[in-house]
Amino acid sequence: QWGLKTKWLGQHMLHKTSTPSTQMLAHNQAQNGSAHGTVIIADEQTNGRGRLHRQWYSHKGEGIWMSMILRPTMEPHLSPQLTLLAATVLAETLKRHCGVKPQIKWPNDILIHDKKVAGILTELQAEQDQVNYIVLGIGMNVNQPNTAFIGELQRKATSLHLQTNQTWDISALVQDILQTFEKRYDEYMENGFAHVKLRWEAFGYKLGEIVPIHTHQNKWYGRLMGIEEDGALYVLDENGQGHILYSAEIEWGKD
Ligand code: BTN
Repeated sequence: QWGLKTKWLGQHMLHKTSTPSTQMLAHNQAQNGSAHGTVIIADEQTNGRGRLHRQWYSHKGEGIWMSMILRPTMEPHLSPQLTLLAATVLAETLKRHCGVKPQIKWPNDILIHDKKVAGILTELQAEQDQVNYIVLGIGMNVNQPNTAFIGELQRKATSLHLQTNQTWDISALVQDILQTFEKRYDEYMENGFAHVKLRWEAFGYKLGEIVPIHTHQNKWYGRLMGIEEDGALYVLDENGQGHILYSAEIEWGKD
């Protein structure tokens, strides 16, 4: 069904019509020893989860809801690099496959015209300074005809269909994403993070601009400069002082 031309990613593919969350399923599979590169995908999730315990709307056949199991040999503190890698893969694939102009809002929201089309949820299982496994979940809104599904967040969400007026073949997109991911992952393992960083920054949302930033209840203005080796965001404040942020929310979207 997926016509995958990959060496290791998605060679084991578990496809569910409906499941609470591919993320939960992937954790179970990983704990039972599933191989590096196993992919769990569902037509529908009844309890999809986003970052910060948010709900993730995953209606039947309208998007890509999938999680992959990765077993990289790396130190846990570098695992955010994989999330940034995944974001560049989604942006790059959307641009090439669909002709849109995606941007990545730090750390890993994919936006088109300032609205969110896809998100990434990376969950790490580590033991004694070594990664045991990573579950990397990807959610992408593809064929939703409107964003009413998303309730009060609808002015911040979009779908590929809404952006292009086309209906997209989900399995062709999945195939392209997985092939591109495998290629970029292998390059990264061989050559390190420098190229990922450059690619990420080429898609970086409002990079070089001054934007409102929220950290721990504070709102301030800073100029987004780029990302650090460990995935942190580098920002200059109004006094030209540099800040390395590990947790922050960039204010976004058009009101
Ligand atoms: C975010 O932007 O908050 C991340 C969203 C991640 C959603 C995906 S859909 C597949 C996988 N299963 C889940 O329950 N969540 C992730």
